[in-house]
Amino acid sequence: MYPALQKELDTYEKRTPKSRDAHRRASDRVPIGVGSNYRFYPPYPLFVQDAKASRFRDLDGNEYLDHNLCYGALFAGHCHPAVMKAVEQRLRIGTLFGMPHGLELELAEIICDRFPVEMVRFGNSGSEATMHSFRLARAVTGRSKIIKMEGGYHGGHDAVSVSVKPKEGQFGDPDHPTPVVSSLGVLPGTADATLVAPFNNLPAVERLFEENPNEVAAVIVEPIMMNIAFCMPDDGYLPALCDVTRKHGALFIMDEVKTGGKLAYGGACDYFGVKPDIVCMGKSIGGGFPLAAFAASRDLMDVIAKQKMFHAGTYNTNPVVMAAGIATFREVLTRDAFESVSRLNTKLVRGYQELVKKAGIIGYADGAGANGALMFYPQRVRNYRDWYHVDEDVWTHYWFAMANRGIVPQPYWWDEQWTISVQHNEKDIDEHLQVFAEVAPACAEAQEERMTVGPIASHAS
Ligand SMILES: Cc1ncc(COP(=O)(O)O)c(C=O)c1O
Repeated sequence: MYPALQKELDTYEKRTPKSRDAHRRASDRVPIGVGSNYRFYPPYPLFVQDAKASRFRDLDGNEYLDHNLCYGALFAGHCHPAVMKAVEQRLRIGTLFGMPHGLELELAEIICDRFPVEMVRFGNSGSEATMHSFRLARAVTGRSKIIKMEGGYHGGHDAVSVSVKPKEGQFGDPDHPTPVVSSLGVLPGTADATLVAPFNNLPAVERLFEENPNEVAAVIVEPIMMNIAFCMPDDGYLPALCDVTRKHGALFIMDEVKTGGKLAYGGACDYFGVKPDIVCMGKSIGGGFPLAAFAASRDLMDVIAKQKMFHAGTYNTNPVVMAAGIATFREVLTRDAFESVSRLNTKLVRGYQELVKKAGIIGYADGAGANGALMFYPQRVRNYRDWYHVDEDVWTHYWFAMANRGIVPQPYWWDEQWTISVQHNEKDIDEHLQVFAEVAPACAEAQEERMTVGPIASHAS
């Protein structure tokens, strides 16, 4: 730990004693004191008191401009009035029936109008959506294996808990990665059924198909890899990946859990001109409520319609969440909103690019739709192995320095990215850039010192 980083951490601890106490108490009853492993970071995470529009306050009353937005699940921003109104109305007429009520049709119609799909099934989390998309692919093809990208995150279930953050010494050949199980407790044999390819590398996918003839049910990909910060597909990569997948008789699953409600009006399907076989959605489509979906053509969904494939859930299509989803699609995820958020994002990305250059930071900023990130890496990250070498200490310095000055620039951890909501405005972006202008020279200085001391350590976890 170098002195400038230590100083920011000391400042953080001085500003947030109530979060430290709350975390200490929570850790007694809740493992690592948080409800989802990602939410913990050392020395302890900020505990939230309340939030509104583009900002939240921690327990000590410090206010922050929020670009975490629940790991990108709040394109709507906090407590969006249209979503709140729809939910409040629904609360008075029944919160849970376990019986159909009509809102599922209304929301399915909206999704089928926007995305290249014909039928939709709803759930409560992105993990459920990807898990059931695999079952659908297996049910339709009669095959069992799945290909995913190294570094790709698609939720917490076993089949995707492979090569999420594999380490040097485990991950093997960059063109033919070794599948590495990412958690204790995953069913033995999972890594035999989940094959791993590098992102932006079509020959590697071809090779996996050739090595596993007639065994691969699906390829799943996040169109912009947003669990290695921000990694764009090469031009033409996604349509070509879709073609290779189909050529080998497998289904192409696009995981739009992050992009679906944030990249463009019609999600990544529209943005990149791709028509996947199955689309998974979650996060921002619920406007702050737990809504997810997997959607496909009528032909594929026929296995569910004919009751050959089982998909069920007590909380599926619960009316409060469906009302939130309908209000979100109709009143938040509008063409105008995508245009104006994207304009703000361009301003933020360009502002970062200028400040990175001015300060002499070795790195770059990139973004699309509502998302972007500052990457402490000398050239464009194209896959997990590039991202693995991002300078995490300087990133940590950046994050705490920004947070100490009232900006949460993105969720904690350098594999994440910022989100801009429809409730952020020009002034917010100016404030964000003003604070980064203060922080950037110290990051550049730290980077320079570290380079002269020795090569940048990389110990991605
Ligand atoms: C691309 C992607 N897919 C799936 C998921 C899982 O979604 P959830 O956390 O709602 O289960 C995530 C969560 O971050 C994600 O980023």
